[in-house]
Amino acid sequence: MLRVGVLVSGGGTNLQAIIDAVDSGVITNTSLEVVISNNPNAYALTRAENHGIEHLCISPKTFDSREQYNEALIKALDDRNLDLVVLAGCMVVLPATLISKYKNRIINIHPALIPSFCGKGFYGLHVHEEVLKRGVKLTGATVHFVDEGTDTGPIIAQKAVEVKWGDTPEVLQKRVMEEAEWKIMPYAINLIANGKVEVIDGKVKINE
Ligand code: GAR
Repeated sequence: MLRVGVLVSGGGTNLQAIIDAVDSGVITNTSLEVVISNNPNAYALTRAENHGIEHLCISPKTFDSREQYNEALIKALDDRNLDLVVLAGCMVVLPATLISKYKNRIINIHPALIPSFCGKGFYGLHVHEEVLKRGVKLTGATVHFVDEGTDTGPIIAQKAVEVKWGDTPEVLQKRVMEEAEWKIMPYAINLIANGKVEVIDGKVKINE
């Protein structure tokens, strides 16, 4: 069983897609051990509660220093013996020590086709605003391993989504979530849970 912890910050629709995929058997060989939010009001915490998954808030705001927050987060993950940490709309910059300790064991969903519209400042709705400003015809989502850079780690899965004339950032965000994010995140977790993902020279080989 792949022991998974999920880090969230907001609504948690990607978390919901993961929960549903585990329930329906789209993701096999996986147990959702804990959901951790930096935001006490994140609806994602309610989603975890509704499904009987352990959930807690660890917020940088409640610690005297960033170091103390980092230590608390790492301890919470270590204590649960996790095989994989999933960033599902997690808006916190993770400590470098966590990233090196969990090398190739942290994955993130980004709401664009990396390497487009990614890096510092590209998160949430901003990504879709920039996509619309540039007028690209295709956008999408990417699941990737997390390394020391911002959105630079090995790419596991991507799916393209059409940009339509008249889209608002909100309309486009919803289409990207429905058509791409909620599909490729469960797909990627299932591949990892079943030992089908190999990282070779910074690139992912999928052994189907
Ligand atoms: C998702 O669109 C996710 O791709 C994005 O935040 C949203 C969270 O929604 N993540 C990033 O922008 C990370 N750089 P959710 O809480 O409903 O899953």
